[in-house]
Amino acid sequence: MAKRLFIKTYGCQMNVYDSARMADVLQPLGYVPAESPEGADMVILNTCHIREKAAEKVYSELGRLRRLKHDKAASGDGAMVIAVGGCVAQAEGEEILARAPHVDMVFGPQTYHRLPEMVAQATRASGAVLDVEFPVETKFDHLPDSAAPQGASAFLSVQEGCDRFCTFCVVPYTRGAEYSRDAAAIEAEARRLVAAGAREITLLGQNVNAWHGRGAGGSEWRLGRLIRHLAEIDGLERIRYTTSHPRDVDDGLIAAHGTVDKLMPYLHLPVQSGSDRILAAMNRQHGADDYRRTVDRLRVARPDIALSSDFIVGFPGETDADFAATLRLVSGIGFAGTYSFKFSARPGTPAAALEDVVPDRVKDERLETLQQLLGVQEAAFHRSKDGAVLPVLFEGRGRRPGQIVGRSPWMQAVVVEASERLVGEVVDCRITRIGAHCLHGELVLAGHHSPSQRVCA
Ligand code: SAH
Ligand code: SF4
Ligand code: F3S
Repeated sequence: MAKRLFIKTYGCQMNVYDSARMADVLQPLGYVPAESPEGADMVILNTCHIREKAAEKVYSELGRLRRLKHDKAASGDGAMVIAVGGCVAQAEGEEILARAPHVDMVFGPQTYHRLPEMVAQATRASGAVLDVEFPVETKFDHLPDSAAPQGASAFLSVQEGCDRFCTFCVVPYTRGAEYSRDAAAIEAEARRLVAAGAREITLLGQNVNAWHGRGAGGSEWRLGRLIRHLAEIDGLERIRYTTSHPRDVDDGLIAAHGTVDKLMPYLHLPVQSGSDRILAAMNRQHGADDYRRTVDRLRVARPDIALSSDFIVGFPGETDADFAATLRLVSGIGFAGTYSFKFSARPGTPAAALEDVVPDRVKDERLETLQQLLGVQEAAFHRSKDGAVLPVLFEGRGRRPGQIVGRSPWMQAVVVEASERLVGEVVDCRITRIGAHCLHGELVLAGHHSPSQRVCA
């Protein structure tokens, strides 16, 4: 009989990818995806450790699951296996088991290919299973081919881990050392995704543009070359990649933005701060002007490219002058979308030990000021698309009957009244209204094309 598996995913896109692969690994054991944790035979929390709030969510969710597990057993419906995977599991393995004894399995981001053994052990033995190793062999050599189609837009992990050691960040500790998959394995997975209906693939890595690997003919490739290679796959219409480090944007990648039409003109390039002093304290290994120059070069290569970024306010020692430098950088560049966070001291990272902590009140004020400026820029970017004809990749049904929703080249959600048959296709749409969270548009019918529609600006 089929067993019900519920996976709840926190954190970044790499966790979304990992969750899908966990389902692939468990499928041969009879587990089928469930919509909710109620009554599920296995619940996996795939967790994120990046900021304190993210990590704390796990424990409140585990409290709720304890009741569900109890109810299931009491109703005579068998046991519920509770598992914690991902980055909190890697960082706090033992502590999770101590704080939440009803947890049966704890495993890190690099060991989930061993889930079948863990399940066997957890159901056989009385104690909990803990597997937070960084195995020598990579999970990618052991994962089965992806079983479930991901839809029109799919994720593909090409790189894992990080060697950059920004002083605020847990990722090098939770994900381990940098590792790049071979181009051939990536291409094979990309072809499978396209055969299963994907039209867009987002290449994923904690530091994706550090990717380097053996390409066709055995020569060493970097990300720009890989993107050019993947662009040759018929049926694949869009390529994206995330998340990049400014220091690893090389000439080949910039050139790819200028020459590969399938590479979308939207780039998430986190800068964190506009102050050289703070960037140095963060160990970002570049200055504010280096970032400006990189953006200039990307814009020369691809004039319609739009940028998004991440910012941290209130890093230890950040003064008003440092923060003003961040605002200056933002004003000078103009971002289309952003994520900004208050610095969160993470156990074990060098920044957590720094003195000169910025008071929470100041962090709040800075965050608000920054988000206001970024919000104005984002709204202006969306407004600039009013009346434009854009190619939209439709991904699914909209909220209202008769609507479908897709993405513009710049990741904007576009809602259109049209047949669901268009899901999975790229269709030209004219933007008719700019909403608070999406663009509204209408199909541009064949024969009504205007010559300007390919410009999309
Ligand atoms: N690899 C990416 C970022 C991964 S984490 C990069 O190099 O940019 C995603 C974002 O979370 C970071 O860009 C940063 O802005 C934020 N972040 C990471 N650690 C943080 C911390 N300790 N406090 C606040 N924000 C943090
Ligand atoms: Fe973390 Fe990104 Fe820095 Fe790596 S490059 S340490 S993932 S912020
Ligand atoms: Fe979070 Fe781990 Fe991703 S800490 S952001 S889930 S790499």
